Amino acid sequence: MTAQIIDGKAFAAGLGDRIAEKAATFTEKAGRAPGLAVVLVGSDPASEIYVRSKGRMARKLGMESFEHTLPEDTTQETLMDLVAQLNADETVDGILVQLPLPRHLDSLSVIEAIDPAKDVDGLHPLSAGYLTSGLPGLVSCTPLGCLMLLKDQLGSLSGLDAIVVGRSILVGKPMAQLLLAENCTVTMAHSRTADLPEKVGKADIVVAAVGQAEMIKGEWIKEGATVIDVGTSRVIRDGEKHLVGDVDFASAATRARAITPVPGGVGPMTIMTLMHNTLIAAYRRKG
Ligand code: GUN
Repeated sequence: MTAQIIDGKAFAAGLGDRIAEKAATFTEKAGRAPGLAVVLVGSDPASEIYVRSKGRMARKLGMESFEHTLPEDTTQETLMDLVAQLNADETVDGILVQLPLPRHLDSLSVIEAIDPAKDVDGLHPLSAGYLTSGLPGLVSCTPLGCLMLLKDQLGSLSGLDAIVVGRSILVGKPMAQLLLAENCTVTMAHSRTADLPEKVGKADIVVAAVGQAEMIKGEWIKEGATVIDVGTSRVIRDGEKHLVGDVDFASAATRARAITPVPGGVGPMTIMTLMHNTLIAAYRRKG
């Protein structure tokens, strides 16, 4: 079998068109555009790039982007004050505090200070609780993007065996909850899971989010499975830098039915689901 390559970039572009249309309708009705506030503390070059691209995408889709860059030595109090100010600002629908924060800051307190109605990152413990309880809330962007790709590929996921490799709050745990809500039978695997190849080999859906370059081998994959690779690791091969996922793409593509590439699979979806969440938050807050 040669896998279909899942084009996350194309899917994200289509989703972006639909979001832009709905953002325009919101703007017409509300008299203001949906607003996304992104907070960056410090000057980590990778984070600066992410934050800039989030702002650019928000504006492209007809949303308002509020970008707050604070110095590396910002105090907890200053950051908490900014979050409180954004919570109170009627023109702000979504708040994202870029992680990781500098080490002297307490990330959890900052996340907990965000109004859950504006938690477009889905990181607030209440957002996680809503998801687990099957209640409407905002869902973390990366797993939401993975789910959209899976449903586009497979239609109904009901009854399928899924394995999520990785148990982070940002990806693994919400991903497992989303798949469970779609009536999958979900195995949550992680770095200490015994007999991982055997467990991966039973799954119709594999979501890899462990952050270890090419750890999941093609021969582990069940023939005809759908593989979603969240990992992005930089490796040097033949003296050149490459971006690779958590799955050994070349060997997995000979067994899977469909697979996301790295780059160009899950990555482009994450920023678009952030825009999706901002739009949802805007409509719910107006509603
Ligand atoms: N840093 C890397 N990914 C993310 C994300 O999804 N949300 C936030 N807030 N920070 C990140």
